[in-house]
Amino acid sequence: MSGGLYFCLISVHGLIRGHNMELGRDADTGGQVKYVVELARALAALPEVERVDLLTRQVIDPKVSPDYAQPEEELAPGARIVRLPCGPRRYLRKEVLWPHLDAFTDQALQYLRRLGRVPDIIHSHYADAGYVGARLSGLLGVPLVHTGHSLGRDKLQRLLARGLKRENIEQQYNISRRIEAEEFTLDNAALVIASTRQEIEEQYQLYDNYQPKRMVVIPPGVELDRFHPPGRGWRSPEHLENELRRFLVDPKKPLILALSRADVRKNNRALVTAYGEHPRLREMANLVVLLGNRDDYQAMEKESREVVAEFLHLVDRHDLYGHIAYPKRVEPNDIPDYYRLAARRRGVFVNPALTEPFGLTLIEAAASGLPVVATRNGGPVEIIANCKNGLTIDPMDTDAIGEALADALSDRARWNRWARNGIKGAHDHYSWSGHARRYLKAVQRLVKPRPKAAPRQKSRLPTIDRLLVTDIDNTLIGDSNALAALIARLREYDGQLGFAVATGRHIASARRILKEWNVPTPDIFITAVGTEIYYGPQKTADAAWQKLLDYRWDPDALREALTHFPGLRPQPKAEQGPFKLSYLVDPERMPPLAEIARYLRRHDLHAKLVYSHQAYLDVLPTRASKGSAIRYIADRWGIPVDRTLVAGDSGNDLEMLRGNTLGVVVGNHSPELEILRRQPRVYFAQGHYAWGILEGIDHYRFLDDEIVVPGERPEEEAEPAP
Ligand code: GLC
Ligand code: MG
Repeated sequence: MSGGLYFCLISVHGLIRGHNMELGRDADTGGQVKYVVELARALAALPEVERVDLLTRQVIDPKVSPDYAQPEEELAPGARIVRLPCGPRRYLRKEVLWPHLDAFTDQALQYLRRLGRVPDIIHSHYADAGYVGARLSGLLGVPLVHTGHSLGRDKLQRLLARGLKRENIEQQYNISRRIEAEEFTLDNAALVIASTRQEIEEQYQLYDNYQPKRMVVIPPGVELDRFHPPGRGWRSPEHLENELRRFLVDPKKPLILALSRADVRKNNRALVTAYGEHPRLREMANLVVLLGNRDDYQAMEKESREVVAEFLHLVDRHDLYGHIAYPKRVEPNDIPDYYRLAARRRGVFVNPALTEPFGLTLIEAAASGLPVVATRNGGPVEIIANCKNGLTIDPMDTDAIGEALADALSDRARWNRWARNGIKGAHDHYSWSGHARRYLKAVQRLVKPRPKAAPRQKSRLPTIDRLLVTDIDNTLIGDSNALAALIARLREYDGQLGFAVATGRHIASARRILKEWNVPTPDIFITAVGTEIYYGPQKTADAAWQKLLDYRWDPDALREALTHFPGLRPQPKAEQGPFKLSYLVDPERMPPLAEIARYLRRHDLHAKLVYSHQAYLDVLPTRASKGSAIRYIADRWGIPVDRTLVAGDSGNDLEMLRGNTLGVVVGNHSPELEILRRQPRVYFAQGHYAWGILEGIDHYRFLDDEIVVPGERPEEEAEPAP
């Protein structure tokens, strides 16, 4: 059907494909991967939905399957995976993707522009996609829906509780980057979807932007056609029986089944100990632990390696040979049969995790007619309350775990009831079609009628083939010889070069200073730190841009809130704009920016704080920046961002220097820009002022036939399909 809704899902990290998902292959390829693929399929199956694109990172790496290099993969009619190049081609773990997310955003914009269609909803998954989704949603004016999957502040608390040092956590997990991305996502998201109440009340509650009114609980679905009870005709597969026979002396006994990644949090240590220390339980049942796949466990990542080593040690210490099975390989297709086999043997599924954010495996077990014993920390409590099919336990109490397992296995009538309840509960509460319907109901009210495209203006912009965007003060101007040399150089270029300035000044002041310095009139003025855009000789303001900026923007309340902080003095009236509150800063007295940001968010006020020259603070709508303005212009006029050279010297230039643009930081830059040192596509020039810009032009061969980014391989085969 046409005229239906278009959903754009974003899930950046991990290895995502529609078939033979490699769940558990690494820490980034797990439940979330499955969730987003199933969600895409379930949504596309709804009659109201026309198209679902799942955007993820393209990975071109001989170490992983070439499937992950394919620009597109069809998941179902109307649903596809779209893989976009982002940073290096090789597979990267999510903690190191941060510097490449602006490039991902630019690729996504380019994809949507080529598609010629703007999504009705953007739905991001996890903090990295949240950052990308928030940027896209702001640039396109599309509502953002977000699912966290797991949350940085919660993780930080847990790691600190385990005794890790803050700086080590920072190094390994880039945790503050993640948390800031999550807060930024919440600044922008129209709706947050959680799997459980507990996730909202205990985890989102830790955020400055905690607004439960913008959050809903919609538990994920389970593929009920795969997870069904062992019917009359069902026989357990030969190879499965054979595998278990390698471990178990009496394979016909009831079977306690555990299934998880090799992760300390999954707490299999307590399970093996509980089983080992409970002689009656050892007599009653076998224990089968599926820990994902391993070849040589010594070659696994440190954490998984330690978990497996400890596991093997405990098996030996409690001398569990013959009673416990722990196959080295588990094919995804075997998992439903493991549940069925455990159900057939009148066993129980156990999840002893220290905390379990949701507990998808419990629902799979329930749907298979297998009763459960699970941690009382997190999602399982709600699942067991819905399904009435088992017991909860304190994961720290190994005696209680052993007792609960023995108890669950001992009452035949109750076992039968639990098995039936689980099947019914899974179908009533956790089908994907049910999920998709509930989801659609929750997001439908956010969908806005598409505004008509802004009328096209007469302009040379659509014909330009590259664009120079430069800051004015201390970048373009400051050295008149350099400026004259730059202008001469640009005049020499015989192609179609666009010229734009991006400044903190307001338009009148920008025009005045350019005249003073004899700079030719730019094609585009981005002024007031990106909150205003003017085109052409008539300097027509772009009203649609301002409309986009007006999102959660409450200047009166912000002005009031900012009176609470010392060291801030409003700039003169002429410097204030409808979307720009500007202050003069006394750096000695102003509290850290993070503190101001926290205060505003806690009062449900949303703004971007831009600090420049250690002297100015601009408070803008969260969607505003010089960088966003450039992307808006690129999208509107079809100017390729990767053929846009951007030059700047101070804090308000930060955002426009990130991403797929060709960034140039001039030699005389202020210290705020130092954090761009390791950012891809940012060139730090030696030359000051316009000498720096000239140096940048040479660095990228910006005015040659072929622009090059030194250090990057040409991307021809990495191009996404239109
Ligand atoms: C310009 C503007 C000022 C702003 C500063 C930093 O100097 O005139 O209002 O605060 O840039 O963006
Ligand atoms: Mg400047």
